[in-house]
Amino acid sequence: MENNRENFGSKLGAILAAAGSAVGLGNVWRFPIETGQNGGAAFIIIYIVCILMLGLPIMISEFLIGRHTHSNTAGAYRILSNGGRWKWVGRLGVFCGWFILCYYSVVGAWTMHYTYLSLTNAFSDIPATQYGEIFSAFTSDPWIPTLWLAAFILIAHYVITRGVQSGIEKFSKLMMPTLFIITIVLVVCSVMLPGASQGIEFLLRPDWSKVNSTVILGAMGQAFFSLSLGMGCLCTYASYFEPSTPLAKTAVHVSVIDTLIAIMAGFIIFPSVFNIGMDPNEVGAGASLTFISLPNVFNQSFGNGTFLAIIFSTLFYFLLFVAALTSAISLHEVATAYITEEFKFSRRRGATLITVSLLVLGTVCSLSFGPLADVQIFGRNIFSLFDDFSGMVLLPLGGMLISIFAGWILDRQLYRDEISNRGDIPTPYFKVLIFSLRYIAPLAIGLVFLDQLGAFDILKK
Ligand code: PFF
Repeated sequence: MENNRENFGSKLGAILAAAGSAVGLGNVWRFPIETGQNGGAAFIIIYIVCILMLGLPIMISEFLIGRHTHSNTAGAYRILSNGGRWKWVGRLGVFCGWFILCYYSVVGAWTMHYTYLSLTNAFSDIPATQYGEIFSAFTSDPWIPTLWLAAFILIAHYVITRGVQSGIEKFSKLMMPTLFIITIVLVVCSVMLPGASQGIEFLLRPDWSKVNSTVILGAMGQAFFSLSLGMGCLCTYASYFEPSTPLAKTAVHVSVIDTLIAIMAGFIIFPSVFNIGMDPNEVGAGASLTFISLPNVFNQSFGNGTFLAIIFSTLFYFLLFVAALTSAISLHEVATAYITEEFKFSRRRGATLITVSLLVLGTVCSLSFGPLADVQIFGRNIFSLFDDFSGMVLLPLGGMLISIFAGWILDRQLYRDEISNRGDIPTPYFKVLIFSLRYIAPLAIGLVFLDQLGAFDILKK
């Protein structure tokens, strides 16, 4: 075990850093629209059940594995498996984190550009039909997205090289409260719009008739991505937790913060959508929602080119940028901790190596909307290949293996000692937790996995 490692200086710092990893693009560009379209409050309830049944058990296990070993993810599984086959779970996690970051940074870069466009009032007087063209002209440009990408990655690099306490923790303590404040300001502005109540109703009205197996599997997948599970991000952060950090409580805090921000993002988006009389089923999801529909929606809602419209959309894209950046930093840390500890590089050199690799592969992903658009693999451009392969294969696989490892392989006494902080904290939920890790989580994630690979398509027809 490594003993000369830094720790987070406070429990609050640890929670904010982990929450920074969890709160990201997924909260804003996927959760609200999935909720609205898939049964509102019914979807939220299912989502919360998914968090309770598999999110929390896996998050607690990742925390525990990291803190017990005080090691990077690959090292943690190597130590706990005594060098056996399970060490590959950690290595898979490191690979997955790095792989996700390659395309995640591209979107982070777009949020920077859109913050700039909003601030300079570039959206005023543009007819609704042209927002799509503006977005494709931007993403297909060989230079502008690449330069923003470099800026995004270099900011993450800077924070990482400052170290755990003066980099990640300090930055999270500054950025997470900023993110909460911006979210609240935007929610307040948005719910004051005429017609806001329809938007809130769309988001919250429970409609159980919409709930089917696809919706449930979707909720599980979303919970997984949103909580940053399955790839050693939280395991790496937990390796910097102090011995007295309560693991289960921290996991609950992180899950609550993540879910609240996701629901609040819906409160920001839908009142405006209804305010301008747009059909919420036509706003799209992901990039098209965020970069094509919303600039128009905000501009029209708050008055074309007015001060309020400029401030609202600038704050919205800045919020996305902060959320993406803190998540990107956590992904970068997984790879940096691995390189520095397993190959004995200095932190600066290790981080630089990762950053250079990200600059290269991130640029390739970014250019796949422009000069490299013709490069198609399995019918996808390079960006979508990275996105789909990590979301559909690497994450569920990682999550399933982690739950099996924690439920079946890891020593039960070690698990109990660690989660109770060596007997200091009562753990009445211990048996339920282990049951979930052994049976529920692997089975549920296995179903998501098969579904994403299309195994149930025949049944759904
Ligand atoms: N949880 C982040 C989001 O919701 O956007 C994405 C993410 C970050 C996934 C870090 C995985 C991860 F390790």
